[in-house]
Amino acid sequence: MNFREYKIGSRFFALALGGSMTITLLMPSFDINHVNATEVAMDKQLWAGAESGFNLDDPFLLGWHKPLKVLLKADPKTGQPMEPTYAYVYEKGTTLPGGILHPDNLGGIAKQLSLEKGRIKEADKNAGAVFLVKADEQKRYYIENATATMGWTPEAVEKTAGDANTLHAAAGKTLFVREGCWWCHTLLPEQTQDWQVFGAPPMLGDFNGESPTAFGSDRKAPDLLHVGSRNASKEWMMLHFFNPRLVQPHSIMPRFDYLWGPTDANGKKIDFPKWRAEYNEYREGKRVTPPEVPMYASNSEIRNLIDFVLTLK
Ligand code: HEC
Repeated sequence: MNFREYKIGSRFFALALGGSMTITLLMPSFDINHVNATEVAMDKQLWAGAESGFNLDDPFLLGWHKPLKVLLKADPKTGQPMEPTYAYVYEKGTTLPGGILHPDNLGGIAKQLSLEKGRIKEADKNAGAVFLVKADEQKRYYIENATATMGWTPEAVEKTAGDANTLHAAAGKTLFVREGCWWCHTLLPEQTQDWQVFGAPPMLGDFNGESPTAFGSDRKAPDLLHVGSRNASKEWMMLHFFNPRLVQPHSIMPRFDYLWGPTDANGKKIDFPKWRAEYNEYREGKRVTPPEVPMYASNSEIRNLIDFVLTLK
């Protein structure tokens, strides 16, 4: 018997296996620390904060001790008007985000600029801090600790911005995790036809310092990474979260009306049974219009969730 064929076959097999082992073992492995964080990554990690999940700062996933993203139109120290600028406020006791605690995450250039120009190592959890995303003359982005460079305290920045210019997006991300939005939605458009509907897929550097990424596992509903760019209407979001069937008659999305809490923006008790009874009349054609969705209170959970969704640009 002649086993020539087997000999050739097994040599090819050994070559393929050996080749692939050589590549795996000897080629330098990919090191995320050498990927520079992008502007998107810096914005995202600064507004989202360190973590969203059960932890000692937030044992019940209520969105406690989370940073705020605020729009400043005046200098908090002098009161002088200035170019509208986003600032990220870490009140006393708020855990600092990944890139501040571990500047290596930011990648070479962003790390160097953030440490030297941005003085991020001077940020102190116990005192609180305010951060900005800055670019140098060559458009290289870095993080600045405005508390060290300009003496902006968290209290002064919050007061100058005012409640209307404050986004509770980080607390909203905790809700996204807690409420299981990721069972249906992804935060990861892919390199497919997704481009046309859901927008650009993220780049590797867009995740540096983000914790956790909430990619989702299996998509049953639209990708939300850029949802704030295609729909920036707070009113639409209110209707849709109170009852998705108000705007999408056949939607399978659950209602999240309980995130409104017991009272509306005027402190009036929300009568959920009455609302549902009127809504059912509307569905049966006994009313021309559905009942009105109550305006949410500024300390309600739904405010945080809508702030989060609208921050996803
Ligand atoms: C059972 C699956 C399911 C769950 C859970 C779910 N959704 Fe949805 N969602 C959908 C579907 C399906 C749509 C598309 C139809 C519609 O607009 O209602 C949608 C639409 C949306 C849209 C509009 C998307 C667009 O492209 O304009 C937003 C925003 C949204 N969901 C946010 C959320 C958030 C936040 C949560 C968690 C609090 C959540 N969803 C939970 C299924 C779900």
